[in-house]
Amino acid sequence: MKPLKILVKTNTQNYPILIGSNLISKLNIVLKDNLIIFKKCLMVIDKKVPKKEILKVKNVLKNKKIYTYNFNASEISKNQNNINNIVEVLLKRNFSRQDCLITIGGGITGDVGGFAASIFKRGMQFINIPTTLLSQVDSSVGGKTGINTPYGKNLVGNFYQPKLVISDCIFLKTLPKREIICGYGEILKHSLISNKKFYNYLNKNFLNIIKLKDPFITKTIFKSCKIKKNIIEKDEKEKNLRKVLNFGHTFAHAFEASVGYSKKLNHGEAVLLGIMAALKFSKIKKILSKNEFNFISNHYVKNKLHLNIKKYFSNKDLNKILSFMTKDKKNNSKKINLILLKKIGYPIINKTFSKRDISSFLKKELMN
Ligand SMILES: NC(=O)c1ccc[n+]([C@@H]2O[C@H](COP(=O)([O-])OP(=O)(O)OC[C@H]3O[C@@H](n4cnc5c(N)ncnc54)[C@H](O)[C@@H]3O)[C@@H](O)[C@H]2O)c1
Ligand SMILES: [Zn+2]
Repeated sequence: MKPLKILVKTNTQNYPILIGSNLISKLNIVLKDNLIIFKKCLMVIDKKVPKKEILKVKNVLKNKKIYTYNFNASEISKNQNNINNIVEVLLKRNFSRQDCLITIGGGITGDVGGFAASIFKRGMQFINIPTTLLSQVDSSVGGKTGINTPYGKNLVGNFYQPKLVISDCIFLKTLPKREIICGYGEILKHSLISNKKFYNYLNKNFLNIIKLKDPFITKTIFKSCKIKKNIIEKDEKEKNLRKVLNFGHTFAHAFEASVGYSKKLNHGEAVLLGIMAALKFSKIKKILSKNEFNFISNHYVKNKLHLNIKKYFSNKDLNKILSFMTKDKKNNSKKINLILLKKIGYPIINKTFSKRDISSFLKKELMN
């Protein structure tokens, strides 16, 4: 199958996203075709990506000087220390802005490596090779980079677009099923905020997608990236419209922070919980009809996407969750901004609610 191509056009950078199978073996040709030139590169590599695939990338780039930074990706290691260490290598090896940083890994590796690339000499060339479903359908598109802090998630970062994104499905073969479901959380988010036809496609083909069958998986990655591309092109810096991509995320980020960013709850799982919380809130506020809510809830039930919130939290955690929700980037200290859903394809942004309102929702509705 020929690779699918999406061209992302932003104010700062135009770049292609290529989606297909075994694309990394032709990376040298892709670089040439896209006029991407560099002599040296630093590969920031997630340690869990199979060596066999990394060797393929290194082999096709053997005319370049390659340095490697092996990275143990986790929400805990998405921190300033790793940024300092990456920048240290770049400085020590005398990198210039024309040299390239290549990330090979999931969303964490891409966010950390992309942030380092954005601040090194005020921005060096950056190529993202996402290796998880979540990073292929979401985090590699749109140029958000960053790290976590003890105050909350992704609170320090930059908008920095890559020169190229290669989403190669061969990486997905070694992903645990849990991580595939995580990626599905963001795919579902994209369908709910923008496209009923895509939602129906997911509903019909769920099993083929999570079993990574072609053409279902390639089409799903393509469609998901296209939805995000259309949004971020209109609002690169999240002044308004791009906020829809945070559907479910004010809850999700607070859930993740409340478990201390531990592996107990991955980002994608927090997103699945967060979407359900946002849907319930939309229903209670009579923004989303009961029918539409049940339609989506059935999708969760049928495909075992319902995670039991009580497995992660008890009533004594609710204040902590609330306090993290108020620290979310979108909020000021008194009001909490939520992205809600009117019906599939029709999100509502810029709705704010009092802390008391959210608190009573968490107590009465979410934990029941
Ligand atoms: N920048 C954005 O716009 C954006 C959007 C969505 C999410 N994110 C961020 O992305 C992160 C989540 O990304 P993620 O789910 O990819 O997490 P991740 O990077 O931690 O990867 C998930 C797990 O898969 C492993 N892994 C990676 N590639 C693999 C492979 N090919 N085979 C086997 N294992 C592999 C990793 O080591 C890790 O254990 C979060 O920090 C989230 O905040 C960013
Ligand atoms: Zn997300």
